[in-house]
Amino acid sequence: MRDLAGDRLTNEVLASFDGATTARFQAVMQNLVEHLHAFAREVNLTEDEWAAGIEFLTRTGQTCTDTRQEFILFSDTLGLSMQVVGINHPAKAGATESTVLGPFFVPNAPLYRNGDNLANGAPGEPCFVSGQVRTTSDEPLAGAHLEVWQADDDGLYDVQRDSLGGAQNRGQLDTDEQGRFWFWSVKPVPYPIPHDGPVGAMLTAAGRSPMRPAHIHFRVTKPGYAPLITHVFVAGDPYLDADAVFGVKESLIAAFERHEPGLVPDGSELSQPFYTVHYGFVLAPAPGPGQ
Ligand code: BEZ
Ligand code: FE
Repeated sequence: MRDLAGDRLTNEVLASFDGATTARFQAVMQNLVEHLHAFAREVNLTEDEWAAGIEFLTRTGQTCTDTRQEFILFSDTLGLSMQVVGINHPAKAGATESTVLGPFFVPNAPLYRNGDNLANGAPGEPCFVSGQVRTTSDEPLAGAHLEVWQADDDGLYDVQRDSLGGAQNRGQLDTDEQGRFWFWSVKPVPYPIPHDGPVGAMLTAAGRSPMRPAHIHFRVTKPGYAPLITHVFVAGDPYLDADAVFGVKESLIAAFERHEPGLVPDGSELSQPFYTVHYGFVLAPAPGPGQ
């Protein structure tokens, strides 16, 4: 009969994966077991703490719906999502850096043309967003596809507002012949990640803030190039050094300039103050097979 404790127990569990159906599954599971056992020993995990952990994970699962993924939020707030981004999208010379996708991306958002207003009635101060998509050899990329989404002045994404039908502050557009894009939206503001569930309770217990610094999300794609999922953050935001999901990278911070009412960059007149931001994206070539 087996009577296992400590290292012998760990070794026995590791060996139980020796017949795994794939080498990768075996490697991942054995590594996970090794770290879990070491973690329990290092913190001297009590039975109450183990039960609280199980209870937390149970509530996390129970909070998930078709539109809410509490496990990804947990991963985000532990920095695991950014760890996975870093492993899979390491900074490539000259290319724009990646950050977390977040839970508010919606595929097939409305199609727009350059110059259009993606706000579609969302509350907020007008913001003219422009830039260019280029290759790492500094060539403009015509026909690059941009998917854009952001929160409004209340810190809410359209999908968080039950009452509204249409997409707001969300859309897709393509770069022109010179790789340029330009559109209107509203100036993003800092906002809290969903914190009314178990992840919010974890943040409270940790004395942590749920806030994210103001940003606009972009997914930029073009066949032959590595897809880019990133944000453009607002320079000067008070939460740049305290992002609840650790997503900020220095290279992704841009100046959002405030302007008095008057002539706007597309030649028209605005009777209210507005903001402008200009940011250039650089796409790396798609990795070849096996890279
Ligand atoms: C977001 O930026 O939309 C986001 C990212 C991670 C967790 C929650 C929200
Ligand atoms: Fe966001």
